[in-house]
Amino acid sequence: MTKSMMIVSTIEELRSARAILDEPVGLVPTMGFLHEGHLSLVRRAAEECASVVVSIFVNPTQFGPTEDLASYPRDMERDLHLLEPLGVDLVWNPSPEIMYPDGYQTWVEVDALTGVLEGARRPGHFRGVTTIVAKLFTGVQPARAYFGQKDAQQAAVIRRMTRDLNFPIEIVVCPIVREPDGLAMSSRNTYLDPEQRQAATVLYRALNAAISAFDAGERNANKLRAIIEETITAEPLAKMQYISCADYDSLEELETVSGKALLSMAVFVGKTRLIDNFVLG
Ligand code: PAJ
Repeated sequence: MTKSMMIVSTIEELRSARAILDEPVGLVPTMGFLHEGHLSLVRRAAEECASVVVSIFVNPTQFGPTEDLASYPRDMERDLHLLEPLGVDLVWNPSPEIMYPDGYQTWVEVDALTGVLEGARRPGHFRGVTTIVAKLFTGVQPARAYFGQKDAQQAAVIRRMTRDLNFPIEIVVCPIVREPDGLAMSSRNTYLDPEQRQAATVLYRALNAAISAFDAGERNANKLRAIIEETITAEPLAKMQYISCADYDSLEELETVSGKALLSMAVFVGKTRLIDNFVLG
């Protein structure tokens, strides 16, 4: 007999539903408007865990004042239809009032790791992310939680938080799922018009140019960053925000690539901010 998927919103409902799940429980935190990237995490969780919980919550505290909270795409009906056949046991879809009741004033912050890359360009973003993920962790109490390499710094920050706060949770980081032309899947890709959508492949093209140079023996981080910059600059609809070649763990910028390194970038195509990355070594 197949179990039906439970859908809850309040903390009380979550607790009752969580209590009857088979162990180990896997959690996939999302902001909804699901695509194959999200679903790859759900499938992996279903393979590795007896029960799967997916949270869908567009977390207001991780959006900056000029960011796209109001226009962030939402489609709960569609999300539930995508999750049901994957064997998801429980969907937690709280309201902002449930997660941040009146008078809310408790925050989880990871220090140095959030001062660079995305954190440097999106002040307060990671404070919102770590706070909500800590709340999702305490609510669901999973044995494993699944995140995408697409948001490389987010994964690093959550690994750090999990170690630092002794959450008894294994953090599983899954590979980037891409469109056939290489564009990393993202809910924000829906903002792109057809011409911008075409231009958006520049991130993957730029990464590949740098990867080819790396494979041919290039270890100078400035050279690798310059190769990415050249490719981005050649695309008239794209505007580079940052290009980084950093140590995989500390996220500090490198001069020379010796161990594991993270090549990453943020690029505007029109008003849409896109990110992509690749792990070298
Ligand atoms: P969201 O952007 O919805 O992403 C949910 C998860 O899906 C994240 O772990 C993200 O890295 C992963 N993901 C997104 N696109 C992917 C792709 N193309 N390939 C593989 N994985 C991909 O990230 C968030 O939500 C939020 O910050 C959240 C962690 C839910 C906290 O609010």
